[in-house]
Amino acid sequence: MERMCGIVGYVGPRDSQAILLSGLARLEYRGYDSAGIAVIDRDGDLDMRKRAGKLQVLRDDLSAHPMGDGTTGIGHTRWATHGGPTDANAHPHLADDDKLAVIHNGIIENFAELKAELLAEGYTFRSETDTEVAAVLLGREFSASRDLVAAFRGVVARLEGAFTLLAMHRDEPGLVVGARRNSPLVIGLGDGENFLGSDVAAFVEHTRNALAIGQDQIVAITPQGVEVTDFAGGTVEVEPFEVVWDASAAEKGGWSSFMAKEVSEEPEAVANTLRGRLHDGSVVIPELDGLDDLFAGVSRVIVIACGTAAYAGMVGKYALEQWTRVPVDVELAHEFRYRDPVIGPDTLVVSISQSGETMDTLMAVKYAREQGAKTLSICNTQGATIPRESDAIVYTHAGPEVAVASTKAFVAQITALYLLALHIGRVRGSLSPEVSRDAVTQLEAIPAGIARVLETEQEHIEQFARWMGDTQSVLFLGRHVGYPIALEGALKLKELAYIHAEGFAAGELKHGPIALIEPGQAVFVIVPSPRASRELHKKVVSNIQEIRARGARVIAVAEEGDAAVLPFADEVLRIPLAGPLFEPLLAVVPLHIFAMGLATAKGLDVDQPRNLAKSVTVE
Ligand code: G6P
Repeated sequence: MERMCGIVGYVGPRDSQAILLSGLARLEYRGYDSAGIAVIDRDGDLDMRKRAGKLQVLRDDLSAHPMGDGTTGIGHTRWATHGGPTDANAHPHLADDDKLAVIHNGIIENFAELKAELLAEGYTFRSETDTEVAAVLLGREFSASRDLVAAFRGVVARLEGAFTLLAMHRDEPGLVVGARRNSPLVIGLGDGENFLGSDVAAFVEHTRNALAIGQDQIVAITPQGVEVTDFAGGTVEVEPFEVVWDASAAEKGGWSSFMAKEVSEEPEAVANTLRGRLHDGSVVIPELDGLDDLFAGVSRVIVIACGTAAYAGMVGKYALEQWTRVPVDVELAHEFRYRDPVIGPDTLVVSISQSGETMDTLMAVKYAREQGAKTLSICNTQGATIPRESDAIVYTHAGPEVAVASTKAFVAQITALYLLALHIGRVRGSLSPEVSRDAVTQLEAIPAGIARVLETEQEHIEQFARWMGDTQSVLFLGRHVGYPIALEGALKLKELAYIHAEGFAAGELKHGPIALIEPGQAVFVIVPSPRASRELHKKVVSNIQEIRARGARVIAVAEEGDAAVLPFADEVLRIPLAGPLFEPLLAVVPLHIFAMGLATAKGLDVDQPRNLAKSVTVE
């Protein structure tokens, strides 16, 4: 079964191998434990190559043993759960005497039952995957109808679960057929050529004209055209959209890693998310036009998300409550759905997802809708499933995020939440023009503030991270909006540097975690601005003294000019001045740099940490 995979398809006049391989390179963040391609070569034969390991293993194999090339092809990069990452389990899977090739993303839940049926009919299997069952089934249907689209219709009627399937058959060259249910697929429209991809990154270097395919639809692409039908065969309208990313945005562009590039893009991610939404000191999000009644009628907001996105949600709660005066809960999406939450038509469920494909979040959104709640998606990926399933969308414009650990999307998510809070506050009349104006001014200053942290602190932090290379455990403390930032700092270290790291609310220290402090224990402390709240600042400085007295090595993230921390901190990482709610957008930057620096110092791959996937499309 596949958890998370990248898919690309091509038909047109060019050699498909290079197009498939470069598409897979851009999709490798979706899964990277095996890769494969199939092409119908110029003699009309179907050639296929697949290898366990990263895409480079496949590339090396193809250079050492070239295979035929042609103008129709499909490619896949895999992330396995069941059926380990072996050559045999890699995609494509062949059927119908190797004349048919199939790739898949998703989980076919009834595959065991279908496999038993096919085995009883005498079919044989070469892998442990559910995908091969779909391939064999498709082969059986094709033998009956000799029509690949009709065969797809027969197959999707039998499948349960989530899938994007792509297939091509030697007897129908110049045709790639795809189907989707609960799993992503988009079409790229070229000139005399067409593309399919898990997302637009698969084909953005060739075209920016795209079509989003809806749930339960089948698409057939040929060099001349695209035809989309529903599972019953009825023609459907598809929505065209223009991809705003350019190809270079999805490439490393000279940086040592995608993560380094993406951290450097944090200022831009905030600036682009603000763009077009600030008007004379107030916030108007054009996508939310016509929804004033919805926002006016909301009596409760629940924010749902997973991982880093959930920490963005926790930061957003402070701003949402302050500016809208509506109570806000923040929940992990996978916990939300299973506890029978109290929600109704006056509940607004705000989901946050960089990819828009995280299955836990998607299922929670669907559940909320079924219960009659209104749903709004904060998402970074156009045409992704979660926004499509939601009543309203606010896109973050962070650009493609390729490194598994989320960085620039995080600051963009907080920015989008703040914009949403200011928009709702304006609509509900809970926000004075002065407060709104001040917030807008503060937000406008954030990109330059982040840029300053990068300029003045990056080298210092990287050096410091190298020096900490052997550290086995790091704690993070924060208070108020600094608390979720402490959690985010700890998550990044676990994800990237594989060391024990934990974030705590600083006030909670005395209720247990202080027992962990022993001489030499590294503790990052996010220090609130003394100008914003003397009281909070004083309390955190006392916390620093408490842990310092027990031998902790204190690394303070503090505002420029805050001298109160100097006597107690072993290291001070400086951030520019910002209002209390806005500090997280700056304070997180040193933590991102530190986690990246420590992982790099340990010789680890910061873009593709072990055991993780960029977006997790199973529950
Ligand atoms: C995975 C990634 C995290 C990310 C989370 C949510 O766990 O490793 O970096 O925060 O998914 O992803 P989403 O695409 O929904 O924001």
